[in-house]
Amino acid sequence: MHQKIIETKITQCYYDELSVEYKKLVDLSKKQVEKAYAPYSGFHVGAAVQLENGEIFAASNQENSAYPSGLCAERVAMFYANAQYPDTPVKTLAIAAFTNGEFLKLPISPCGGCRQVLLESETRFDKNIVIILYGTEQIFIIDNVKQMLPLCFEKSSLQIKTE
Ligand code: THU
Repeated sequence: MHQKIIETKITQCYYDELSVEYKKLVDLSKKQVEKAYAPYSGFHVGAAVQLENGEIFAASNQENSAYPSGLCAERVAMFYANAQYPDTPVKTLAIAAFTNGEFLKLPISPCGGCRQVLLESETRFDKNIVIILYGTEQIFIIDNVKQMLPLCFEKSSLQIKTE
């Protein structure tokens, strides 16, 4: 018997250290929290995705009185981007969260369900998606979805050819 340790690489940085491209996405995700529909949780999340072709889409969480029918900002953004451009990989995703009148100091990271959706897009196009998690005191950059979802279940797990 032996133990295996799986490591996740996270780059921690400050807003000023981001590239112009990344700053733009973070700014958009922050702006997008204003459009969240979150009357039940009061937790407003914004997500902005940039595609390989340069297109950018931003989205927010959309809640529902039947709670499970709501959707996280990340999934709204990803599904919208993939629906508009089914053949274009997503390159970067930025996420920001706002509650009780302020942005969170520490970044939030996507829930398990969103990670699985992000993974599908990453594997579908065989193209890493860089994830930028915004917090007022720290920003995390993660190089790809697999870093956030070790021991993942993906299309190759099914052992069938999907294309
Ligand atoms: N939420 C997101 O939109 N993204 C996340 O990464 C975490 C949670 C939403 C879902 C729900 O509308 C609210 O935040 C509280 O969980």
